[in-house]
Amino acid sequence: MKPVTRPPPRRAELPPTPHRPAPYDGPSRDQALALRREYLTPALLTLYREPLCLVQGKMQYVWDDTGRRYLDAFGGIVTISVGHAHDTIVERIRDQVGKLCHTTTLYVHPAAGQYAKALADHFPDGSDLKVTTFTNSGSEANEVAVLTARVATGRFDVIALRNGYHGGMHATMGLTGQGTWKYPVPQGFGVHHVAPGYCYRCPFGLTYPSCDLRCAHDVAEQIRFGSPGEIACFIGEPIQGVGGVVDPPPEYFKIVYDIVRRHGGLCIADEVQTGWGRTGDHFWGFENYGVVPDIVTLAKGMANGAPLGACTTRPDVAQHMTQRLHFNTFAGNPVSMIQGLTTLEIIDAEGLQENARRVGGHLRDRLLELQERHPLIGDVRGKGLILGVELVDDRVPKSPATAATADVLEMTKTRGLLLGKGGYDGNVLRITPPMCITRADADFLADCLDEVLTELESRNP
Ligand SMILES: Cc1ncc(COP(=O)(O)O)c(C=O)c1O
Repeated sequence: MKPVTRPPPRRAELPPTPHRPAPYDGPSRDQALALRREYLTPALLTLYREPLCLVQGKMQYVWDDTGRRYLDAFGGIVTISVGHAHDTIVERIRDQVGKLCHTTTLYVHPAAGQYAKALADHFPDGSDLKVTTFTNSGSEANEVAVLTARVATGRFDVIALRNGYHGGMHATMGLTGQGTWKYPVPQGFGVHHVAPGYCYRCPFGLTYPSCDLRCAHDVAEQIRFGSPGEIACFIGEPIQGVGGVVDPPPEYFKIVYDIVRRHGGLCIADEVQTGWGRTGDHFWGFENYGVVPDIVTLAKGMANGAPLGACTTRPDVAQHMTQRLHFNTFAGNPVSMIQGLTTLEIIDAEGLQENARRVGGHLRDRLLELQERHPLIGDVRGKGLILGVELVDDRVPKSPATAATADVLEMTKTRGLLLGKGGYDGNVLRITPPMCITRADADFLADCLDEVLTELESRNP
């Protein structure tokens, strides 16, 4: 058979930037690594085989200790919404740190209320999602959410999704539906994991739409056979991020929320990765599915990199938490509040949701076009600027291309592109850049992937 000849891929060029970081004269990567190896827990992970030491950032770009620039298409794991070291954030945080760094919610400071109001104004009209408990991370936010649901309903059982990720603390490890993130310790009391809406690898071996959403309807069976018949809550990410950017069919959450509510449960949307306009068409991930949750959890991109999380619910639900004392020392501190509020204001003022829709749509089209030419690409998923590319060694058994995915990460890094990785088998490229990226950045990303996949496929034709 004649070998298939393909046009050579377009040469990937990192777009120019006017930003020049100040010369870096701190410790080198090797010095930083030596300190880390000796003094930090050995349980820490690094994304790259050759660890990368990032020391500066400006908007969608970051620089390593040698002065090399990269397009940050992972966004510090979806934490950078508006761009690294955004001028307005830098200015406001400097100002706040100079005034007051920390005070607890035992005292009153205007910033927490102002930010909570701004959040409430961003939830859908009529949802009554307006009262917020601030935390310092997404794990804490999910802890508060499930605790609130249990206290409010007086029930215990929780439905969570297989392949979901909700945090690494005791309770949230129990909610997380991936064995790789679970230590062999008692966790997950009362948590029942049900099938996700993962069409590319349907847990029931069916095909959408003839499947009639078996995965969603199965929640009723799980409640019937695995719980006392009434539950406290359901928790799910609108798009599973760590699980490999898994976005269920449009009807999925409507069916699930309806079943959960018929069994007395509250619905929690874990918006830690999907909020803030990232999905493009909507501000919140859940809005893509036409549902309104009872409780929403937030973190990561909400404060553009500052350690901040939140759990927002309706006043009638939150009222139940007054039964006991509940407190979190750093939560609601003015520095985090100003950073969160400023991030939200910038997302609106700079039209970043619309940019996520436009640039994300263009990037998705380019990835779909790559899928036609590259057998390694099994599936392209996601919305706006939360996109996933699942790599497979063979399209028919869909064998996860775990090693090739790791190679893609290394090879794109050497070309100036930082991607993320996810999925249970580590075979999904995760693309979640700061929402300020441009069409030229998106083209660079796609060209870079084209080049790297071509090289990998030529090694194993
Ligand atoms: C969807 C989701 N929820 C919760 C968490 C936990 O957040 P944190 O690491 O801030 O505790 C994560 C972290 O990756 C996440 O992706």
